[in-house]
Amino acid sequence: MRFQQIAAASKILSSHLPRMRRPNASRQVSSVASALKNSPIFRTMGLIGGKWVEAYDHHTLQVNNPANGELITEIPFMGTLETNDAISAASEAFKSWSKLTAAERSKYLRNWYDLIMAHKEELGQIITLEQGKPLKEALGEVNYGASFIEFFAEEAKRVYGDIIPTPLGDRRLFVLKQPVGVVGAVTPWNFPLAMITRKVGPALACGCTVVVKPSELTPLTALAAAELALQAGIPPGVLNVVMGNAPKIGDALLASPQVRKITFTGSTAVGKKLMAGAADTVKRVSLELGGNAPCIVFDDADLDVAVKGALAAKFRNSGQTCVCANRIIVQEGIYEKFAEAFSKAVQNLQVGDGFTEGVTQGPLINESAVQKVESFLQDAMSKGAKVILGGKRHSLGMTFYEPTIVTGVKCDMLLASEEVFGPVAPLLRFKTEEEAIQIANNTKAGLAAYLFTKNVQRTWRVSEALEYGLVGVNEGIISTEVAPFGGIKQSGLGREGSKYGLDEYLEVKYVCLGDMNRT
Ligand code: SIN
Repeated sequence: MRFQQIAAASKILSSHLPRMRRPNASRQVSSVASALKNSPIFRTMGLIGGKWVEAYDHHTLQVNNPANGELITEIPFMGTLETNDAISAASEAFKSWSKLTAAERSKYLRNWYDLIMAHKEELGQIITLEQGKPLKEALGEVNYGASFIEFFAEEAKRVYGDIIPTPLGDRRLFVLKQPVGVVGAVTPWNFPLAMITRKVGPALACGCTVVVKPSELTPLTALAAAELALQAGIPPGVLNVVMGNAPKIGDALLASPQVRKITFTGSTAVGKKLMAGAADTVKRVSLELGGNAPCIVFDDADLDVAVKGALAAKFRNSGQTCVCANRIIVQEGIYEKFAEAFSKAVQNLQVGDGFTEGVTQGPLINESAVQKVESFLQDAMSKGAKVILGGKRHSLGMTFYEPTIVTGVKCDMLLASEEVFGPVAPLLRFKTEEEAIQIANNTKAGLAAYLFTKNVQRTWRVSEALEYGLVGVNEGIISTEVAPFGGIKQSGLGREGSKYGLDEYLEVKYVCLGDMNRT
């Protein structure tokens, strides 16, 4: 099966959907955009073997601001040839990069981290410009993204092997850890920086080289980060960036025997195709796919903590994260009180352009994202659910959507069975702990889950029973570079971040040294 076949279902391919124009785009945003264009980190070409390059046929693709539809710039529409050259460059660079000591690679990564932090403001602005999230949240993403580079710069020095006690006196047994080789990294638009650094940081630390294909919706952050990697002295070919024709780039990465690993964050549909496509050359895969996060609020929860946690877990990035609370499952004794307090909190969320002070909810990424939200809501309402807040496009137009709360949601509604990826909070009701666990686990997804309770025994019982890779207890934001991030079931394979994140980029080699008794 080929990457090309799944274009329609893919998050990473949605770049080809048109974005509506909004005639009265704010002047403030336009001036940020023109100032950024003069920045040395504002790059608009692909990076292959240390050189900034156009698409070989000079075709381009537009990058637009989702908040006002304005054209930001054009980027190369690359495909098979450019990807193959990027793979060759990465393969060539691997020969020397993998031979450096961990301490040497660590220095390069540390330089890169320092430069990212020194350009935090500009990077944050680029994220807001092309992705739409509020600037404060974008600056938070820069910190988060940079933290993976810093963490893996340190962790690079701790890739230990083993000596195994030998069962035969004349032999010695060793385990070496070695880099897997060239890595193809396919990344999404919702975290244009952090999803790249979470992959490239550990890959480079281990001695791998990388070809990144960022989302065509948000390539400018990736290119700015790559420019900073060059400034940090990371040698040509170690980090390459190609973008444009996603199916062709994906196919080239899958087909190449030189690419030894694919790492992907995005939709489950695309992840499955990549996994199937990687079989031909038996590549390793790490997949961070969609979620359907339950957020369970028990009667014994602290109401304020639960409201604050659910708000953060649901409305971060306007509901556009794989770990966003997708189903808020509330026990009957606290249901009405929670619904009322949660509505009050959600009413305070300010929707608008991410550059406007005080805005907490930016636009959705594109028109098809809004249409998905609308169709899910329609489905829920036709089956008896009730909108108690929001429920329609925001008066700002474009892809702005009102923060929405829906009550009376049932498991058979799309809002509960699929990931809405937008600012809609469906509330479901339950009676017993067993029922909550049953509802929570009744999904193919298994990325993040949240629970709110003051009962310590329940915390353990429920955390252990939840079929999820990540569990937040009395906390709505749980992502950090020091903890393993990843899902079970159809939410993916492998872990990112933390010491476990390194294993994804390492081969384990056993060496048996024989004939020790010979003199
Ligand atoms: C994601 O949405 O894929 C990542 C979210 C996170 O890192 O917290």
